Amino acid sequence: MSVRMLISALIFLVLCECMMLEAQLQVGFYDNSCSMAEFIVRQEVTNAFFRNKGVAAGLVRMHFHDCFVRGCDGSVLIDSTATNSAEKDSPANNPSLRGFEVIDSAKARLESVCEGVVSCADIVAFAARDSVVITGGLGYEVPAGRRDGRISLASETRSLPPPTLDVDQLTQNFRSMGLTQEEMVTLSGAHTIGRSHCLAFRNRLYSFNSTTSQDPSLDRSYAAQLKQQCPEGSTDASLVVPMNPVTPAITDEYYYTDILANRGLFTSDQTLLTDPTTAIQVLQNARFPFLWKSKFASAMAKMGQIGVLTGTAGEIRANCRVINT
Ligand code: HEM
Ligand SMILES: *[C@@H]1O[C@H](CO)[C@@H](O)[C@H](O)[C@H]1NC(C)=O
Repeated sequence: MSVRMLISALIFLVLCECMMLEAQLQVGFYDNSCSMAEFIVRQEVTNAFFRNKGVAAGLVRMHFHDCFVRGCDGSVLIDSTATNSAEKDSPANNPSLRGFEVIDSAKARLESVCEGVVSCADIVAFAARDSVVITGGLGYEVPAGRRDGRISLASETRSLPPPTLDVDQLTQNFRSMGLTQEEMVTLSGAHTIGRSHCLAFRNRLYSFNSTTSQDPSLDRSYAAQLKQQCPEGSTDASLVVPMNPVTPAITDEYYYTDILANRGLFTSDQTLLTDPTTAIQVLQNARFPFLWKSKFASAMAKMGQIGVLTGTAGEIRANCRVINT
């Protein structure tokens, strides 16, 4: 092969690569096909938020749980059937995941103005962004054009990180999704809004390990407060606490301030202080909220591109809860 042929082959490869990237998601994907799409989603998120501020947290988490299982393909929205137990019915999502009705109402309006055009996966991505903004985070553009998947398996929620993981395990988990350790620390800041069921952290209060009942890395007085909110003998699985009690519906840096005060709610939060590299990031994010907010916006946009279906793959679901027949 001549040098010139080699060079043109290389150029061709590089061009192809670029074109493939371009054929991926696109900002303004619905500008011509359904120009109201992002506006309608924002309206539905806003309406829902003023009825219940907690839905914003629910929608941010929904996007995360969609993307970490089979990519951001709307698979988290699919209802179980007689023959299939879907993601939303795994213990990782049921009963804690919330906000499905917001996606349903946005989808219903979108189907009435541009039938069969806007994917459920994109609606979730837009709704998560709008939730970040409405709670005081920085806005970011959401590249769209995701297609909806046709498979949703409860068993596949194994890829979601449980709250008992330590920093190395979290780093591994996020790396397996193409995200860096720093993006893991940045995205964990989403725990500055929303709530948790007692079940997710009660081991830190009552059954830490065989020799110690209470996690020594948890601030004593915070632990005492949590014990009141989550009594040992209680069988009420619906008990919840705010994750950042001071400003539970505001996207601010207080998640990181909490961790510095040993008031991270989960092991997976507090563990970020045990590694020198992540500990410095916790400190930086607490000190420079604007820096964190802008890193958070970028990391959300990146998370939103994990394993997406594009082009003619998948489908545009008519009802986000049911695959098309
Ligand atoms: C780093 C690993 C992570 C672990 C182990 C984890 C675990 C959890 C757990 C156990 C809950 C409590 C759910 C409940 O009982 O109601 C929760 C809530 C939440 N998570 Fe995470 N999470 C992680 C990362 C993320 C990421 C990356 C995001 C989004 C970018 C996120 C957003 C949220 C939000 C907003 C809530 C509150 C949900 C609500 O109020 O309904 N989490 N998380
Ligand atoms: C239980 O946890 C404490 C505090 O982290 C630790 O010192 C101790 O070694 C642990 N015990 C066991 C059996 O793992």
